[in-house]
Amino acid sequence: MYKRSPAPEKNGSINTVGLEFIMKTLDADLSDYRKAIGNAFEASQSHVFRWWNEISKQEKKHLLHQIATMDFPFIHNLFMNKSLCKTQPDTRTAGLQLTPPNVIPVPVNDQEKISALEARRIGEESLRKGEIAVLTVAGGDGTRLGIGKPKGMLSVAPLSGKSIFQLHAEKIYTMQKKFRVTIPWYLMTSETNDFATREFFRVMHFFGLDPKQVHFFVQRMLPVIDLHGNLLMNSKANIIMSPNGHGGTITALKEKGILSNMKENGIKNIFYHQVDNVLVRMVDPVFIGYHLKNRSEISLKSVKKHHPEEKVGVIGYINGKLHIIEYSELSHADMYAQNADGSLKYNAANTAIHLMNTDFLEHICQDGTKLPYHAAKKKVTYLNAAGEIIAPKENNAVKFECFIFDILKHVKRGIVMEVLREDEFSPLKNTEGDNSPVTVVRDINNLFGKWLRNAGIPIPVDAQGNVIGSIEIGAAYAIDEEMLRNKIDKGLRFSGTLNLQAP
Ligand code: UD1
Repeated sequence: MYKRSPAPEKNGSINTVGLEFIMKTLDADLSDYRKAIGNAFEASQSHVFRWWNEISKQEKKHLLHQIATMDFPFIHNLFMNKSLCKTQPDTRTAGLQLTPPNVIPVPVNDQEKISALEARRIGEESLRKGEIAVLTVAGGDGTRLGIGKPKGMLSVAPLSGKSIFQLHAEKIYTMQKKFRVTIPWYLMTSETNDFATREFFRVMHFFGLDPKQVHFFVQRMLPVIDLHGNLLMNSKANIIMSPNGHGGTITALKEKGILSNMKENGIKNIFYHQVDNVLVRMVDPVFIGYHLKNRSEISLKSVKKHHPEEKVGVIGYINGKLHIIEYSELSHADMYAQNADGSLKYNAANTAIHLMNTDFLEHICQDGTKLPYHAAKKKVTYLNAAGEIIAPKENNAVKFECFIFDILKHVKRGIVMEVLREDEFSPLKNTEGDNSPVTVVRDINNLFGKWLRNAGIPIPVDAQGNVIGSIEIGAAYAIDEEMLRNKIDKGLRFSGTLNLQAP
């Protein structure tokens, strides 16, 4: 039996509501929660009942429901960093044998181009057979953006104002039309954003997709705790919860029967990506082809790092096994390590675009493999003991997340394919600076500008090489440069704005 020592109370404890009192005054229809209440006291988390006398019955029910879903010994273990949790930040690469990965390069010479064409043929065949599903992880809180709605709902297209979800949906629509199949689309949401996401799809008529092919599933949540191990609250009846990380995908796929459902429907591989990358090349046949040709269990797409400190995961081998080392966990020496020619040694950035073999995932799930949790210290606004909302200036809380790429530890066959950042990677993470709405729109303009230029249409650029003007090319009009070249009127002249959409 574990017992957490009570945390030191700040701001004067006003926790006067005892277990006996709660039990005595509990409404009969809430009596099922007796055990949960006892568990909270046993775990020294009784402060969550501080305002028991002030909150309404509805609020009591909500609080008790939260308590009842909590596995206190598990949370305690996470906090104590014992068996389940990785420490962070650390330099787990220091002292370990980290080496750069073998990467399938962006094709430049004839040999590489022939190889890419062959991969594309294999990938297209698999798409035609309906063996590929898309999985978008969209359960994150998007705290850095602070938008209070799902990231995918943000309008990013330079001229039409289409949302990220719509851009993804139109790519799926075009690819399935091209290959005359239905590409099932799975979206992982969290309890916080599930309703808003579903509503958005409903209101937008699923962007022309068949609602039956779009599947939402909700990942698990974990409580956010303070630096002493106390549950944090943001109102008198609400414990702060946070999604359990995109590693939660694996458990959710298994628990909700999605994996077996996919397999029954002939899905052999999952095209996995993060909702925030507006340039993702959806179900890229070349990537699929290489993945299949190499009988890879998990495949990764990489781009070259912008600079040593860029906040991306780095792909490498640790003791001969494929790994992604998060920026916060990369040792300083490895971050700056150089090759003899002065280039960055660990230069393969994780785009979080993966292919995952469904047999492999099933095997992992059957084995009961659990991904480790990473603990991250954060600033989280909370309600203090005096009932005041506090927005802390220093880290005051710990969030626990598991990362999908920790599954790589179990991978025997995996490949890394490098692509050009300008073609496939522009995530929306921040309100300003790198990976912000401004850079995302710039990158969309630049990509379409490049396609048009390669099709023979002059497009003006500024001193930094950025398109002067706004360009949008809907996926249904052209999903890639090749489709655009075959379609575009070569006599077209760009006059500052161009919006090419299918009729
Ligand atoms: C992530 C990767 C990083 C990679 C970068 C590329 C991690 C830990 N790091 O960094 O290696 O180089 O993206 O853009 O992933 N999400 C959920 N549920 C959760 C948490 C997140 O669905 O519980 C989703 C988010 O909606 C988002 C994605 O996962 O789509 C990325 O999460 P985020 O926390 O933003 O990761 P990054 O730090 O950006």
